[in-house]
Amino acid sequence: MQKLLFCVLRRSKAWFCRKMSTIKPEGKIRRNDAVMFLGKGRVRIGIGNAFGLYPSPNYFNGSAYIEAWYEDALVQIGNNNYFNNKLSICAEHGCIIIGDDCLFGENVSIINSDFHPIRISERHKTTQKSKDVIIGNNVFISNNVSICKGVHVGNNAVIANGAVVFDDVKENTIVRGNPAVVYKEKIYE
Ligand SMILES: CC(C)(COP(=O)(O)OP(=O)(O)OC[C@H]1O[C@@H](n2cnc3c(N)ncnc32)[C@H](O)[C@@H]1OP(=O)(O)O)[C@@H](O)C(=O)NCCC(=O)NCCS
Repeated sequence: MQKLLFCVLRRSKAWFCRKMSTIKPEGKIRRNDAVMFLGKGRVRIGIGNAFGLYPSPNYFNGSAYIEAWYEDALVQIGNNNYFNNKLSICAEHGCIIIGDDCLFGENVSIINSDFHPIRISERHKTTQKSKDVIIGNNVFISNNVSICKGVHVGNNAVIANGAVVFDDVKENTIVRGNPAVVYKEKIYE
């Protein structure tokens, strides 16, 4: 019975996301993956990526959310990345690029803009400026991580649980905290 219920839910989630999406991604996602693609921009997806994990927290509470808001926005995801539940990736203009073989924990947010200006008189407008986010290969992004505009993350880096990343992360480096700072460097094993 549980198997059947799970199967029905998985398929309905995927179906609902496909119907609600406004962008058709270039490339393929797995048939049963629940990912909503919104906006007017472009999304490119490689092969072998998996979105959503069961059993893992929040599997039943929604889908992955990928937004490429304006026409000039691009979200590009390479190959063989694993995304746990509650992923959100939002590009306003410009791009968010993810390489290959990365692991993403639960509740990860990646944004390439502040979306609203800081100036009080303009706060309810949109910013119209974005800074590209680039994530390399074989990066491990833990649970509850936020990656903010303009950040480049080097190959093999690790972002610790709960980190909020405002600055670039060098390759083979672990960062932690809010704002995220270097915890360990030169990890090669
Ligand atoms: C970054 C990480 C790998 C570090 O592991 P570790 O090297 O074994 O670290 P330890 O647990 O030995 O802790 C070492 C120090 O870092 C601190 N620390 C550990 N994790 C931290 C975190 N996420 N944020 C801030 N500080 C952290 C510890 O308090 C300790 O500080 P101290 O030296 O001042 O006492 C680990 O904390 C982590 O974030 N793992 C990812 C878990 C996760 O979300 N997995 C995804 C599941 S899908």
